[in-house]
Amino acid sequence: MLEEYDEDLEILGYPRELIQIFMNIFVNAIDEFERKAEKQEFKILKTKILKDGNSGVIVIQDNAGGIPENIIDKIFDSKFTTKSDTNGTGIGLYMSKEMIEKYMDCTISVENKEMEYSEQKYLGAQFTIKIPLKIKE
Ligand SMILES: Nc1ncnc2c1ncn2[C@@H]1O[C@H](COP(=O)(O)OP(=O)(O)O)[C@@H](O)[C@H]1O
Ligand SMILES: [Mg+2]
Repeated sequence: MLEEYDEDLEILGYPRELIQIFMNIFVNAIDEFERKAEKQEFKILKTKILKDGNSGVIVIQDNAGGIPENIIDKIFDSKFTTKSDTNGTGIGLYMSKEMIEKYMDCTISVENKEMEYSEQKYLGAQFTIKIPLKIKE
């Protein structure tokens, strides 16, 4: 069960790499906002920290329109990009997933999710990262 958590969570992982991973996700959301033909008034990037048993769960959600269903299974692939016109490398999410799953015993997943803000409904991408908690002795 996912629960909201008020206290600090101590997680097991590499802080530098985690910052890099969060930056990748944030920059991708910003890219999506920038690429939209129609600029929207409210650009939202929400982060939440939850607890699920012995894991910390970090949820990052944007309202930039979501990921087309025909590519959502490919976004973690090496060199997959929809930004070939703007020097996209398709490496960011691939490296993030490698780092998270091979070196940190964590998981990353994505889904499209609706968000409501100021009486408007938006679609966006939601990334979920699960990281083991440091068990306190
Ligand atoms: N928040 C997002 N909303 C919509 N599409 C996204 C989002 N984040 C990633 N993507 C898709 O995933 C692809 C791969 O992302 P990434 O590995 O960071 O490579 P790059 O940013 O160089 O294209 C992007 O090209 C884009 O199509
Ligand atoms: Mg990127």
